Amino acid sequence: MVRVLEERGYAEADIRLYASPRSAGGRIRIGNHDLAIAPLNERTFIDLDLALFALEDDLAKEWVPRARERGIRVVDNSSAFRLDPEVPLVVPEVNGALLDARPPVVANPNCSTIQLVVALAPLARMAGLRRVVAVTFQSASGAGQPALDELREGTRRFLAGEAEVPEVFPKPIAFNCIPKIGAFDDDGRSREEQKMLAETRRILDLPDLAASFTCVRVPTLISHAVAVHVETLRAVEPAALLEAWSRSPGVVVGDGRDAAGIPTPRDAAGRDEVFVGRLRRETGVEHGLAFWVVADNLRKGAATNAVQIADVLLER
Ligand SMILES: NC(=O)c1ccc[n+]([C@@H]2O[C@H](COP(=O)([O-])OP(=O)(O)OC[C@H]3O[C@@H](n4cnc5c(N)ncnc54)[C@H](OP(=O)(O)O)[C@@H]3O)[C@@H](O)[C@H]2O)c1
Repeated sequence: MVRVLEERGYAEADIRLYASPRSAGGRIRIGNHDLAIAPLNERTFIDLDLALFALEDDLAKEWVPRARERGIRVVDNSSAFRLDPEVPLVVPEVNGALLDARPPVVANPNCSTIQLVVALAPLARMAGLRRVVAVTFQSASGAGQPALDELREGTRRFLAGEAEVPEVFPKPIAFNCIPKIGAFDDDGRSREEQKMLAETRRILDLPDLAASFTCVRVPTLISHAVAVHVETLRAVEPAALLEAWSRSPGVVVGDGRDAAGIPTPRDAAGRDEVFVGRLRRETGVEHGLAFWVVADNLRKGAATNAVQIADVLLER
């Protein structure tokens, strides 16, 4: 988030950094400024225009209302407020008009959902959506810094023939795929799958959209990929969707070098756009299309989207 602020012209703004007491005293460079990290506390919320939060849900529930009480506008990365009817859930390219009302708190959606809706929105506008089926391939960084550390250490141990001790993930993540991201509900849906369903419906403003998700953690470091299968209400030519994507802000067709290139997590890592590829017709499905979507979960899936929202709120 700090890097994205720097890149988007905020290096000279009065930026203050807060984290847990563990990080207090650490320093982060922004432009020419060497900023100290302070522990988050009641005195944090003085003289601020806007706060960007990246906390776990329980901490967000505690701290976001405190900032709001002090009249500070908030963009929150957690899932604590994403389904709150008073808090808009925004992907600027898709439903940025919700920011016109200058809401005091804006929720940043789930990382896989952001990249999915950026790719789906042009199709929904052209042809309407009847059903969406998607399988995700989600990188370790989606579960935060401790998860990245666990992938690196697990890889080292696996190659050295040492025992792995998963703590963040439910199984060893090195050289593995884990089809469980968050707890299962009574119907067997994981928390991530529940979030993708509810948030996709909310952002696209299609509360009854038929959609089914399987979310899988894979041993990549950064960027999530999603294999998407869609049935539209009206016929649409793949060429027309390619054309719509190429006109959509924040969308890159291909791998960033070649429009016919296959985008991979490593192509998208460090980039702010959503990459789409592998577009084809479904066989045996009326108005069916399949495609592949990749984006950096730490950037477009989190920091970039949050700072884009902040840009609009500060501008208004
Ligand atoms: N990673 C993603 O791709 C992604 C995408 C979208 C949304 N999100 C959401 O963003 C939130 C943060 O996730 P993350 O991946 O950024 O996690 P993370 O890498 O573990 O970072 C969590 C941050 O919270 C701070 N923190 C923890 N306890 C605290 C406390 N008691 N007081 C103040 N600060 C505290 C940590 O400070 P220290 O550094 O001092 O420990 C750290 O800066 C989660 O709700 C997550 O679901 C993550």
